Amino acid sequence: MQTTVFLIIAVWIQPIVCTSSTSSFAIFNSYIHGHLDGRVENTNNLLPEYDFIVVGGGSAGAVLASRLSEIAGWTTLLLEAGGLETIVSDIPGLAKFLQLTDIDWQYQTEPQPGQCLALKDERCNWPRGKVLGGSSVLNYMLYVRGNERDYDGWAKAGNYGWSFKEVLPYFIKSEDQRNPYLAKNKKYHGTGGYLTVQEAPFKTPLATAFVQAGVELGYENRDCNGERQTGFMIPQGTIRDGSRCSTAKAFLRPARNRKNLHVALRAHAHRVLIDDQKRAYGVVFERDGKIQRIRVRKEVILSAGAIGSPQLMLLSGVGDPTHLQQVGIPVKHSLPGVGQNLQDHVSGRGMVYLINETVSYVEVRFLNFPSVLNYVRQSGPLTALSGTEGLAWVKTKYADPNDDYPDMQLQFIGGSPISDGGVSLKNNDNVKDSVWKEYYEPIAYRDSWQPIPIVLRPRSKGYLLLRSSDPYDKPLIYANYFKDQHDMKVMIEGMKIGLALSKTEAFQRFGSRLYDKPFPGCETLPLWTDEYFECFLRHYSTTLYHQAGTCKMGNSSDPTAVVDPELRVYGMQGLRVVDASIMPDVVSGNTNAPVIMIAEKAADLIKESWLKRSDLPKDV
Ligand SMILES: Cc1cc2nc3c(=O)[nH]c(=O)nc-3n(C[C@H](O)[C@H](O)[C@H](O)COP(=O)(O)OP(=O)(O)OC[C@H]3O[C@@H](n4cnc5c(N)ncnc54)[C@H](O)[C@@H]3O)c2cc1C
Ligand SMILES: *[C@@H]1O[C@H](CO)[C@@H](O)[C@H](O)[C@H]1NC(C)=O
Ligand SMILES: *[C@@H]1O[C@H](CO)[C@@H](O)[C@H](O)[C@H]1NC(C)=O
Repeated sequence: MQTTVFLIIAVWIQPIVCTSSTSSFAIFNSYIHGHLDGRVENTNNLLPEYDFIVVGGGSAGAVLASRLSEIAGWTTLLLEAGGLETIVSDIPGLAKFLQLTDIDWQYQTEPQPGQCLALKDERCNWPRGKVLGGSSVLNYMLYVRGNERDYDGWAKAGNYGWSFKEVLPYFIKSEDQRNPYLAKNKKYHGTGGYLTVQEAPFKTPLATAFVQAGVELGYENRDCNGERQTGFMIPQGTIRDGSRCSTAKAFLRPARNRKNLHVALRAHAHRVLIDDQKRAYGVVFERDGKIQRIRVRKEVILSAGAIGSPQLMLLSGVGDPTHLQQVGIPVKHSLPGVGQNLQDHVSGRGMVYLINETVSYVEVRFLNFPSVLNYVRQSGPLTALSGTEGLAWVKTKYADPNDDYPDMQLQFIGGSPISDGGVSLKNNDNVKDSVWKEYYEPIAYRDSWQPIPIVLRPRSKGYLLLRSSDPYDKPLIYANYFKDQHDMKVMIEGMKIGLALSKTEAFQRFGSRLYDKPFPGCETLPLWTDEYFECFLRHYSTTLYHQAGTCKMGNSSDPTAVVDPELRVYGMQGLRVVDASIMPDVVSGNTNAPVIMIAEKAADLIKESWLKRSDLPKDV
C-alpha cells in the first residue's frame, strides 16, 4: 500500500515540482483528465421500479447493463457493492497492489487437508473485485478465449446455443483488436467492439526467450486465440493505450449518458424478493446505511460472480433446503445445485527460476519516477500485464496427443514471488512468515522467472455454503484442490515441462536454474522427483482466480443444474444468472473474455425473449 500511495503522490506532485518540464506537466494533465473524463455517474435518485435490475457490475454485469440499455424503452438499474475504479487500478503494472484493499472482497478458503499448507491458517486467498468493473479491475488483463472443445462440450450436454460456432460471434462482437497482424485474421478477431485488446507495449527479453524455448521443445509460436490452441504466444491483454481496459471502462462509459440506465454504487444487495408463484419481483439492498427495496417489471439478473451469485441465491431462499434450514433462511425454492460444482484453476506460483542477468521485473528497478513518466506516455514496464509475458498451452502425457485439446497451461512470469522482496506478492498469496523467511528471503530481489502450471480441466470440484443468514458474512468456501489425484498428476507433469523449459538454449543464455533449496515441509524428499513436486504444490497452492460453475447451466434432466441454456433459473420466473457461475465446466483458459462473451450472448437471449412480446412500448 505504501508504494501505491507513493505512486499517487508521484503522479500528482512531480510535474508541479519539476517546473522545468512543462511538456511532462501537459502529459500528466491530459493523462489524469483522460482517466477522469467519461467516468460513470453514481445515480442518486432511483426509481421505485425498473424493467431490469442487474446485481453486480463486474465483467458480466457491466456488459449486460450496457447492452440492455441499448433498448430505449427499457429501464435498467445496475447495483454494485463497490465504487469506481481509481488511477492506480488503471495502471497495468500495479495490479498486484489492488488485492487486500477495499476494492477486493478478500475471500479465503476453509482449511482442508493436502492444500494451501504453506499459507497462513492453511487458507488460500481468493481475491474478487468489489468495484464497478468487478474482477476485470483486479485481474491481470490476459485476454484468452479457451478451447473450442470447451463450448462444444457444453452444447453436447444439452446446452443448446453454446457450441463454439455459436459463441465465437459474441467474442468477436466485443473485441477491438489493435494489433494489425492479429486483426487481419477476421475469422477469429474483431475490430470496432467496445473491448480493446492488444499486446502490452513493453516486454523483457525473457518474453522472447519463453516463446523460443517453446519452439525448441517442438511447440509452435501461434495466436492461441485463433484456429488452434496448442502452442506458445505473447499474451494479448484487455488494455487500451497502455492502461487497463476494464468492462466498466469498455462497456459502461459509452452508455453513461443514457437516461434509461441507472447505476447505484456502494449498493450491497441482500436478497432477491420472490413471491408465492416463485417470481422474482425485486431486490433488497443497502446503500448509504439505508435498506431499500426496488421492484422489477421484467427480470432480476444476478451477475455477482461465482461467489456472489450463489450466495445471493441462498440468501434469497433458493438452494438446498437442508442447508437453508441450518442457517435459518425460509426456503422459497429447492435447488440443490446452488453453490455446488465450484471449479477453479489451481496453480503453482511458488517456484523460482534464478537467472544471472538483470532483465526481470525486480520491483526496485521499475517502481520509480521515470517509469511513471514513461507510463503516461504509454510505454515502459508499468504498461506491462503485471509481469505475465508469455502463455502456453501444452499437452502432458495424460492428454490426447492427436487432439488440439491441451490439459496444461503455463503462464510465464518475468519474475517470481521474490521480485518484490515480500512487499505484496507474499501477502497476496497468504504465505506464512516462517516459510517466507526460510525459503524466499535469502534470494529476495534476485532476478528470476517462473512458468506457472495450471490444470486446465480440474476433476476436483468444491462447493460453498452460507456461514449464516447475514448478507455481510463471507461464505464458507471449500476448494477441494487436488481432491482428485488426477489433477495432481497433471500438475506434476506441468512442473517438469517448466524444468525442461529452463534447460533450453533460450533460457540457458540467462543462466536459468531452478532454485534448489528444499521447500519447508518437503526437506526429506529428493529434489525434482514427483513426490517433491507434489509436496511443493500441496504447500504452495494458489488460485489462478478462475472460480466458476456454482450456478451451473444444464439441461432439464440434470438435477445439479441451476439455470437452463437461456440462463433462466429452473423452476422460477423473472430470474437469470449471468456470470462465471453458469459455466458447466470451467473453460481451458483464463475466464474474463469467456464471461464477457456469456454476457453478450445473454443480452441477446433477453432481448429475444422480451422483444417478441406485443405488450412492449412502441419505440422498441
Ligand atoms: C486477481 C485476479 C486476476 C485475474 N486475472 C485474470 C486474467 O489475467 N485474465 C482473465 O481472463 N481472467 C482473470 N481473472 C478472472 C476474471 O477476471 C474473472 O473470471 C471475471 O472477472 C469474473 O467475472 P464475473 O462477472 O463472473 O464476476 P466479477 O467480475 O467478480 O463481478 C461480480 C460483481 O458483483 C459485485 N457483487 C457481488 N456481490 C454483490 C452484492 N451482494 N451486491 C452488489 N454487488 C455485488 C462485485 O462487487 C463485482 O463487481 C482474474 C481475477 C482476479 C481476481
Ligand atoms: C443432460 O445433462 C447431463 C449432465 O451433463 C448429461 O449427462 C445428459 O446426457 C444430458 N442429457 C441430454 C439429453 O443432453
Ligand atoms: C550464473 O551464476 C552462477 C552462480 O554465480 C554460476 O555458477 C553460473 O556459471 C552462471 N551462469 C552463467 C550462464 O553465467
